[in-house]
Amino acid sequence: MEIKIPVHIAIIMDGNGRWAKRQGMPRIMGHYRGAEVAEEITKACIDLGVRYLTLFAFSTENWKRPKEEVNLLFDLLRNYLTSKREDLNRLGVRLRFIGRRDRIDPDLRDLMTDLEQETSKNNRITVILAVDYGGRDDIIRAVNRALREGLLDLDEETFSKFLDLAGVPDPDLLIRTAGERRVSNFLLWNLAYTELYFTDVCWPDFTKEELLRAIEDFSRRKRKFGRVLDE
Ligand code: FPP
Repeated sequence: MEIKIPVHIAIIMDGNGRWAKRQGMPRIMGHYRGAEVAEEITKACIDLGVRYLTLFAFSTENWKRPKEEVNLLFDLLRNYLTSKREDLNRLGVRLRFIGRRDRIDPDLRDLMTDLEQETSKNNRITVILAVDYGGRDDIIRAVNRALREGLLDLDEETFSKFLDLAGVPDPDLLIRTAGERRVSNFLLWNLAYTELYFTDVCWPDFTKEELLRAIEDFSRRKRKFGRVLDE
């Protein structure tokens, strides 16, 4: 079978908490391991020639978690971004963030902007971290931006330029780990024709082999985009 490498893979990295609990560890340890796996999967995507990798790190709904877990998640992100700065450049990773910026601590917000600028010339892969991201929130912000610019009678192409993923091709493949079969307010607009892949493996146990399994499955799909395919 011919393997088709998706241009853009999006991942809902679920099951960190359950994984940690199973090992008798606090939930945050699942997130720590999860961050390591995100790094390993980024490297695997570079090796495979995937051009865009979008990772759901924190949703607009995740603020409802206990304050301690929220703080630890942002500490983890802050530490990770600080300590991996050189690695990102060495690997040729262009980093981008999608989601709201207004509720994020100013120091982290500045770090995010700095990293986006610092890595903007890297071109082996674009890694897009969704932080305080919600698909509905993305659409509403886009509508408001378009209205503020006085645009009426939008078409799909013009509208999509106001979305957080403007200029990025829609994901070809969405992977969600840990058995849940939902989109959970991830990239609602951009997932219109995305192939969905679900696995029971929790994110901290996700490996390059699991990624290859997902890509193999994707390669077998017939993508029709609403058309009729001649057999
Ligand atoms: C879902 O597991 C995971 C999250 C809400 C956070 C994901 C964040 C990371 C993997 C770290 C990101 C950091 C970097 C640097 C990419 P869950 O807590 O919902 O697990 P559960 O469903 O088992 O409770």
